[in-house]
Order: sequence, then structure tokens, then C-alpha cells
Amino acid sequence: MSGPEAGLHSAGFWDTYWRGTHENAAHQEGGAQEPVLARFWEEFFRRELAARAEPAILDLACGNGAVTGHARRLVPELRVHCSDFSLSALLDLQRRYPGCPCVVADAAHPPLAAASFDLVVSQFGLEYAGTTALEEAAGLLAPGGVLALLVHVHEGAIYRECESNRDTVNALQSLNILGLAREAFAAGFALNRGECSPDEFRAAERAFTPAVRGLEQLLRDRGPTAAGGLLQQLYQDIAHMYRRMSAYEPDDILQWLAGLGAELGAYRGRMQSMLDAAWNQSTLDTLAERVLARGFRLVQRDQLAVTGSTLPAAWTLVLARD
Ligand SMILES: C[S@@+](CC[C@H](N)C(=O)[O-])C[C@H]1O[C@@H](n2cnc3c(N)ncnc32)[C@H](O)[C@@H]1O
Repeated sequence: MSGPEAGLHSAGFWDTYWRGTHENAAHQEGGAQEPVLARFWEEFFRRELAARAEPAILDLACGNGAVTGHARRLVPELRVHCSDFSLSALLDLQRRYPGCPCVVADAAHPPLAAASFDLVVSQFGLEYAGTTALEEAAGLLAPGGVLALLVHVHEGAIYRECESNRDTVNALQSLNILGLAREAFAAGFALNRGECSPDEFRAAERAFTPAVRGLEQLLRDRGPTAAGGLLQQLYQDIAHMYRRMSAYEPDDILQWLAGLGAELGAYRGRMQSMLDAAWNQSTLDTLAERVLARGFRLVQRDQLAVTGSTLPAAWTLVLARD
């Protein structure tokens, strides 16, 4: 999906995620509790904050404030303006970093005054907002301002992990385990009420069993942490509910299954949006060139490597406005 609708769907996936409040959330997928990312921001803020008195700073597609957190560790009361299209992310950010002004906005069209910031930063965020977002962000910088980004690398370490997670959810969804669970639960309740025969119940259970075996195989193949632990949670929850079916109302079970389906869909959507957002070398060069043509100079364009992997974790892009 592309165009504005893709953005709207994506906002839903991300909001579902941030409603769960995950510390250091950007890094939970991609395996990157990466010191190399933290080092990049520490060095960036140490250098830029030392050079400026009371800079106006914007963290774009900020999530719950991973980058803002790096700046606040250096200057605890620093007011960083923060923007994301997920309200839940911003509410969490305001709890963690009180005093940071927040605006819910699509980074493709930030409703902020042109040339009003000294520093604009984004970590694994701006690339989600489409190919014009970099120019939009650059337009927010005052003369002498600096734009610093960490961007997902197409086929990099985080990309590969998101791809594997997405494929795991695809494999799970192809088992139709939630649909078959719904049938088996419904038959179980009907049996308890005397509204279906034991044979009908056993038929529903027989149809459900291969999906459960398929899930067990997926867990053996991909491990309990695959897809952010969702498979393992699903397996444990289904086993628990199935054993204790009579303790629940049928509507509770239906709602719970619908909730699991929505959670899986949002997770898959979020993984896919990361894959769609990643930049290859040519995208990076093309988009950077457009900004360089508008009176900016290149300070840094590089890749950060993940510890213990041959794959890069992120593009770095730092551009300064003359
Ligand atoms: C991978 S997370 C990174 C969050 C944060 N920068 C960090 O490093 O933890 C991507 C973030 O981009 C936000 N996002 C995605 N598309 C966006 C858009 N078009 N406009 C604004 N925010 C967006 C999501 O809500 C999410 O918070």
C-alpha cells in the first residue's frame, strides 16, 4: 500500500505498539540495544550543545524519546520539541521527559514554522514519512542549523530481523490458528450447553490440532523470542484458555481472540512498515542531493556497524545549513 492511506494504517500499527509502553522501543526489534547508536547521539549532542546557547531542538518521529533521552542525559532540563504521529508515544515521552513540548503530526507535513530550529534530529523515524520528509525537515532549520539522522539500512541488520519477524507472522497467519481456535472454543461451549454432539466437538478439535502442531513447530524452528515473543504468548494463552474454557464466557473468548488477531496484524504491519521505510545507497544519495542543492553542506554520511554482525545497523546522515 502506498499514499496517504498507507500512512494512516501505519499510524494505527505504531499507536498500538506505543500504547504498550516499551522502554527503548526502537531497538527491541532489530536486536539493537546498540551502544553504537547511543555513542553517535552522545557525540553529536556533546558537540552541538557545547557550540550553542539555548538551541531550539526538534526530535522528529521521536517515539517515546530515545534520542531526546540522549540529549537530556547531557542537559537534564533541556527542552526538546518532540513530534510523532502516535499520541500514545508522545504521552509516554512526556512522562519520561517532562517539559518537552509535543505535537502529534505526520513528519511528511510537520506543522512547524520554517527555519525555526537549530537542531533537527531523527532516529529510525523520518524515513517512514516518505521521500519528501527529508526536505521538509531541512526546511525547519534556521541558518547555521544541523540536521542529524539515523536511518534504517535496506538489507541491514535491523531490516533482516524485521523481515524474519514478518515472515514468522505470515507463517503463523497461514495456519489460521485463531479462526480454528474460535471454532473449537465455540464447539466446546455448545457442547457444555448441550447444543452440539461430542462428535461435532471432536471434529472441531481435530481441525484445530494441526494448527497447534504448526505453531509448536514454528516455536521449535524460530525460538520463543521470535516475532517479539508473540508466538510464545499466543501458545501459552491458547493452552491456558482451552484448559480452563468453562471458567470463561464465550464473549470473553471471542473478544480475546479478536484482540490477539489485531495485535498480530499490527505487529506484522509495523514490521512491514520498517522494511518499506529502509533506504538503500541510491535513495540516500538522491534524497541527500536534493537538500545539498538547497544551501546545505554534508557533515557526515556513513554507516554504523552492529557489534558482532557484518551488516550495518544504520545510515548516518548529518547536514548543516549554511
Ligand atoms: C522505529 S520508531 C523510532 C522511534 C524513536 N525515534 C526511537 O528511536 O526510539 C519509528 C517512529 O516513527 C513514528 N512514525 C512513523 N511514521 C511516521 C510519520 N509519517 N510521521 C510521524 N511519525 C511517524 C512511529 O510512530 C514511531 O514512533
